[in-house]
Formats: sequence, C-alpha cells, structure tokens
Amino acid sequence: MNLIRRPRRNRQSAVIRDMVQETRLSVTDFILPVFITEGQNVRSEVSSMPGIYRYSLDLLLNEIEECVDLGLKTFDLFPNIAESKKDKYATESYNPNGLYIQAIGAIKARFPDVMIMTDVAMDPYSSDGHDGIVENGKIVNDPTLEVLGKMALAQAQAGANIVGPSDMMDGRVGYLRQVLDEGGFHDVAIMSYAAKYASAFYGPFRDALESAPKFGDKKTYQMNPANSREALIEAQLDYEEGADFLMVKPALAYLDIIKLLNDNFHLPIAAYNVSGEYAMIKAAAQNGWLDGERAMMESLMAIKRAGANVILTYFAKEAARVLNS
Ligand code: PBG
Repeated sequence: MNLIRRPRRNRQSAVIRDMVQETRLSVTDFILPVFITEGQNVRSEVSSMPGIYRYSLDLLLNEIEECVDLGLKTFDLFPNIAESKKDKYATESYNPNGLYIQAIGAIKARFPDVMIMTDVAMDPYSSDGHDGIVENGKIVNDPTLEVLGKMALAQAQAGANIVGPSDMMDGRVGYLRQVLDEGGFHDVAIMSYAAKYASAFYGPFRDALESAPKFGDKKTYQMNPANSREALIEAQLDYEEGADFLMVKPALAYLDIIKLLNDNFHLPIAAYNVSGEYAMIKAAAQNGWLDGERAMMESLMAIKRAGANVILTYFAKEAARVLNS
C-alpha cells in the first residue's frame, strides 16, 4: 500500500521512539511527602500504604539522606500527632517546641540545600479532625485564617521554604502572604492547593496521620468532583492573592483539571498524586494483577503530560531509582 502518512515509522525502534518522545520525567519533578511521628528509632509502616512509613525524627533524617543521594531535593512534611495533643484550635500546630516545628529546623540544619514544604491546615492537630475551626457543627472560615497564619509563620521561622495551604478556606493565600511578608519572610513561597477535591482517595493518608474527621465530611470546603469551571475560580483567586504555584489534587482522576489550569495560568502547576492513588497501584501489584513499576511510571508520565511540572508523590523514591538506573 502506498500510504503517505505512516505514524508507525516514528515508533519503529527504541532510538526513534526516544527521539520523538514529547514528555520526560526527571527526578527534579518530584516532591516526596514524608510522615513524622514522636519518639526515637520509630519506623512504622502505614498499613494501607505498603512501603511508606511514619518516621521519628532521627530515622527521618536518615531517610532524607538516602533520598537526597537519589537526587530528590524537596520534601513535604506531615505530622502524626498524639490524640492527647489535639484540641479544638489546633494550638499544637504552632508550638515552637512541638514535633513539627522542631523537625523543620532539624532537617534544614542537617540538609541546608534541601527544600522543605510544609502543610498548612488544622486537621492533624484538630480534635475534630477538620481543616478549620468547628463551631456548632460548621467549619468557620475567617477565624480559621488566624490559626493558619500562626502555623505558617511558625513554619517559616523554623526554616520552611514553601508553605502548602491544604485547608481550602477562602482567602487563605492572601492572608498567609500578608502574614509572611509582615514577618519578613518574602522569600517563603506559597504552593496553594488551588483545586482540591473532596475525594475518596485521601483515605490512606488519614490512616497515616490518624486524622480522619470525627464527624461529617469535608464537602463544605473541598470541591465537588463534578466541577471543573469552579477550579478556574479557585485558581484565579489564589493567583490574585499571591500563590507561587497552583496545585491540583488528586492527580490521576483530575488530569483534565491539571490541563485546564496549565492552559489558563502562567504559574507552575503542581499535582498531588495522593495516598489512594499510591495504594491502588501497590495493592494491584501485590496481587500480581499488574506490573507495579510500569504502572507507577505510566501514571507519573500521564500527570506530567497533562501539564504538571511539579509532582507530589509517594512514589518519588522508587521512581527516582528507576530514572537513575
Ligand atoms: C489535609 C490533607 C489531606 C491530604 C493532604 N493534606 C487529606 C484531607 O484533606 O483529608 C491528602 C494527601 C493524600 O491523600 O495523600 N489537610
């Protein structure tokens, strides 16, 4: 047959496939979320996230060192807080002597070139398990901002490079920018969880932190999975309020949202490949139902192809090994 267009010509060998490849993953694309817990010499596996551990600070430092040797440079820190330290106003979140704030300082002291991203939301420290203050069964927006401001400031004072408001309160990016600037932290960046959906895929993360809501759900602040135009409103506001990065979360079920934000905003777009997305691939791989390594790399590639140039993923260390080999 005399076909003028034969797309298979560009797929006929590994060399040509490599040459025409449009998207390439790099270790520098990744941010690894890490879980810290109290104590010494503690390394406890999250049962719903095989291969992911909660570390005490001493062991977390070793883990970070291994990751740095693989080329990973940014870590997003999340705390597992004892129930006895939780309260209605998440006061532990800005305790300068608390686990989280101390850990930021210790990591930056040992690895000055590593970037520390922090989480700004009340849920790990809240006795209600919600991201904001609860009054009469409702999550109240404006009083929550004050807590978030104290949290972000304490994190910046400890040496955080990027703060990540994951709470979805209205106006928090502008409020945090103001608090950080007034504190002299002009260089601390804000990666806003701009389009964060009320998703079932956060389940294993809530196991890791033991932070599930004590009542109700998060639908009055996190977005409805059915909506994409609303993501443009959230992203626009975060842009105007001073966000340095716009994040979409989860990633794999929201590739259209990643593309939408990438097409409409000139900020770097991040995507959070969340705990449930990790757990699904791990579970299927453990059952021998799919090739875990290939599924991991294909998923990460898809997230980047959709338009995310920063990927937060529990696969970061494993993927770095693959990319380095
Ligand atoms: C909460 C927060 C969540 C995640 C990051 N920050 C869960 C939630 O909103 O309940 C989820 C991350 C993951 O599932 O990997 N502020």
